[in-house]
Amino acid sequence: MTPPLAPELVRATVHDPHAEARARFAAAVHAGLAKPHKRLPTEYLYDERGSALFDAICDLPEYYPTRTELAIMRAHVDAMAAALGPNATIIEYGSGSSIKTRLLLDALERPAAYVPVDISAEHLAAASARLAREYPELRIAPVAADFTRPFDVPVRGVGRRVVYFPGSTIGNFEPDAATALLRQMARLVGPGGSVLIGVDLRKSVDILEPAYDDAAGVTAEFNLNLLRRIARELGGDLDPSRFRHRAYFDAEHGRIVMTLVSRCTQLVHVAGRRYRFDEGEAVITEYSHKYTREGFAALAGAAGLRVAQVWTDPAEWFSVQHLVAG
Ligand code: AVI
Repeated sequence: MTPPLAPELVRATVHDPHAEARARFAAAVHAGLAKPHKRLPTEYLYDERGSALFDAICDLPEYYPTRTELAIMRAHVDAMAAALGPNATIIEYGSGSSIKTRLLLDALERPAAYVPVDISAEHLAAASARLAREYPELRIAPVAADFTRPFDVPVRGVGRRVVYFPGSTIGNFEPDAATALLRQMARLVGPGGSVLIGVDLRKSVDILEPAYDDAAGVTAEFNLNLLRRIARELGGDLDPSRFRHRAYFDAEHGRIVMTLVSRCTQLVHVAGRRYRFDEGEAVITEYSHKYTREGFAALAGAAGLRVAQVWTDPAEWFSVQHLVAG
């Protein structure tokens, strides 16, 4: 008979958070690679190196969204703050480390509280501590949570609740998931509450494709880093150099499709399973939807949100939209 394990060992085995996270990562990779059109889970692009590469993408000449959204905020933040009203509780999806957050907080009239929501407790703590130093008067109530799932806001304010979701990250969700996320925001802010959201707009393919396939190869490196992460964290014999980055605009669905294309026919082992890749076979790693104004209004409408106001840059490349919950 096997001797019983010591209680500490049982606890460590059952509740090893690293092992659980790795098992979830492996399950997501297996689920994606088993599909007839192979996929890899987008959210795993952002490990430490992936996040640093994404920051570098935001500074690329071809990647217009970050600087365009910032210019819109700079030009219209007072109008946005007026639309949101005094005493608002700002619930930001993301750790709130950006210049855009500060612009908004500076323009708002007596914000009641600021609630950054981020899956990484570490990023959240660092960003909240920095903000607390800069805004000693402001109540900051960080929430470590996955914002795609329901979570509680630990603040009862007097003004309206506002979800702030900059960066056009909504574009990385497929329409059903985007609607579900917007519906959850509507529920969180309650009737009369607001959502202030960055939404990237449809434009020429000559602008769109280079933004996701820059000359310096930073986006390619960001994409290939997902394979490096899989090989490192899940084990096996996946060789990133046998894949190349390809991003293209899918006009039918109005989205950039970011893929990794197999350079040869190969059998690859990942976390104990074997997958075949044909030469030229593409694995989708990310969608980035580009909306028309009407298209986004319809999506928001399906989630119980009405578009109250839209601010754009002169070329209408990007928008910041004020949505109100019905
Ligand atoms: C985070 N997200 C809004 C970016 C985008 O533009 O869809 C992610 C990205 N992928 C490649 N470049 C940037």
